[in-house]
Amino acid sequence: DWSMAEFREAKIAEIRAQVGERRVICGLSGGVDSAVAAVLIHEAIGDQLTCVFVDHGLMRAGEADEVVSLFRGHYNIPLVHVEAEALFLGGLAGVTDPEAKRKFIGKTFIDVFEDEARKLGGAEFLAQGTLYPDVIESVSFTGGPSVTIKSHHNVGGLPERMNMRLVEPLRELFKDEVRVLGRELGLPEAFVGRHPFPGPGLAIRIPGEVTKERCDILRKADAIYLEEIRANGLYDAIWQAFAVLLPVRTVGVMGDGRTYESVCALRAVTSTDGMTADIYPFDAGFLARVATRIVNEVQGINRVTYDYTSKPPGTIEWE
Ligand code: XMP
Repeated sequence: DWSMAEFREAKIAEIRAQVGERRVICGLSGGVDSAVAAVLIHEAIGDQLTCVFVDHGLMRAGEADEVVSLFRGHYNIPLVHVEAEALFLGGLAGVTDPEAKRKFIGKTFIDVFEDEARKLGGAEFLAQGTLYPDVIESVSFTGGPSVTIKSHHNVGGLPERMNMRLVEPLRELFKDEVRVLGRELGLPEAFVGRHPFPGPGLAIRIPGEVTKERCDILRKADAIYLEEIRANGLYDAIWQAFAVLLPVRTVGVMGDGRTYESVCALRAVTSTDGMTADIYPFDAGFLARVATRIVNEVQGINRVTYDYTSKPPGTIEWE
């Protein structure tokens, strides 16, 4: 793609001009955006870049290992893997407000990055895979007055005072353009085609209080849902699919016993930029199979619903 080749060269020059001889750390989330940002910045400044993957304990099943091994397997970019589950889950204890969750997670990410920057002898720049929609949606909502819908953690979720300066080479791009750039940079298709995953992770898919136990329940349900989506060849037709664990318990019956457990909602949408979305129209048989598997296999869930809300008026994530 010729225009993307130009964009790549222009950005490389811009990054070199901004950073000079100084050091940069790049927060890697496992998503395509931060991976593309990292590879682009590495082309620009080579060993002045270190990637940092923060495992906040809010990743999906197996994701942390997948990200680290995929990245280490393909690139020669130094990667620091920070285990920070206790720090994040500890701070989230008792927090139920969606914006409070986002602000805490955003601030804690920055604390961890600043620590790592110090350990590296003072990196002055923090690189992120922020996209254009992240910027718009953290500031205002299309057409209306200036109202924050949600503070996307790498924009509105940043603390007011930060010691590091930002490097955000993808700030003008939409997701489909980032995927084109990723292919241009030679990223493996496994990375380029991944569904988006939000920085605050499972915390914003567990309305109410986030606990390790709730995260574990959600991880199991989500893994079954995605396994069925992949097995039925639907993954690439869907923008994003995930399970949400609701803070509601309902009565059920299993064998000859009564159950009183949590409800899980399934979400799947199609979209081109995440700014608007339509629900994915699974056939009823598929949803029934997934529901049966989740209730049978996941202790703690006894009812499954499907979210039929488009965006707008719904957002893609529930918080
Ligand atoms: P919403 O829920 O706002 O989501 O309709 C639109 C897209 O953005 C993702 N999302 C995030 N990504 N940090 C991210 O990196 C965040 O804080 C964040 N919040 C939402 C969401 O998964 C969807 O793809």
